[in-house]
Amino acid sequence: MSHTNPFREITRGICTCLEQPSGASYDFKAGYYERLVSTRWFNRFFWDASRQDYQEFASRAILRTAGTVLDVGCGGLAQTAQLYRSTNNDCILLDRSLEMLKIARARLWAGSGLLPANIQLLQGDAFRLPFPDNTFDTVCSFGTIHLFDNKQEFVDKVLSVLKPGGRFYFYSMTGETKISRAFMSSLRKVREFGNVYSIAQTLALFNQPALEVQSHVIGSVVFIAGRKIKQSV
Ligand SMILES: C[S@@+](CC[C@H](N)C(=O)[O-])C[C@H]1O[C@@H](n2cnc3c(N)ncnc32)[C@H](O)[C@@H]1O
Repeated sequence: MSHTNPFREITRGICTCLEQPSGASYDFKAGYYERLVSTRWFNRFFWDASRQDYQEFASRAILRTAGTVLDVGCGGLAQTAQLYRSTNNDCILLDRSLEMLKIARARLWAGSGLLPANIQLLQGDAFRLPFPDNTFDTVCSFGTIHLFDNKQEFVDKVLSVLKPGGRFYFYSMTGETKISRAFMSSLRKVREFGNVYSIAQTLALFNQPALEVQSHVIGSVVFIAGRKIKQSV
């Protein structure tokens, strides 16, 4: 995939499609965030879930599919770096934050200074994806839906670049439990999260005739996978 890369390299191994690459909100907390979400206690206490739960689900998108994969809001790959190092699929890992992408790059380099040839790191905006509709065989986005107020728009944008017949994988934190609701509501006040949704509200975002959907819940995290059966969603 790298030989057909139409995007501008902004720093070694990372391309951008943005005119204004700096200033993403995660740029200022990238290192802190990545350390926090890598801890067992944080995921158990606030979400009543584990890193293994995330990784098992993400492996379905990254390892058990074939073709092209787009990960929207890939972050620093705290849960997924090992999976991306192991896949043969052509993957584009997109994030708004350059600092998060630099952490992702370091994890993929793993001391070698080389990205796997099938992996591209791309700075971009989920709401202005630089791809035509129906481009990817698989799309995924982990731990992202709950960040946005315009959740339906986010989901629809990501699904618009999925080919008919393609597979999608999302998981999102919800305010389903007392602790997660309190945590999300307090961070909502400082604009860290979008409106706090329940599991049912999150699942309703996928209630569309063009989609076949399966889901399961662990703690306050809802895991949503499925297939796009028609062109438009
Ligand atoms: C909560 S982190 C999740 C990161 C990773 N998917 C994970 O599971 O660890 C959310 C990520 O979404 C990115 N993000 C936020 N808004 C975005 C947007 N509009 N377009 C692309 N990425 C965005 C942030 O920079 C951050 O890296």
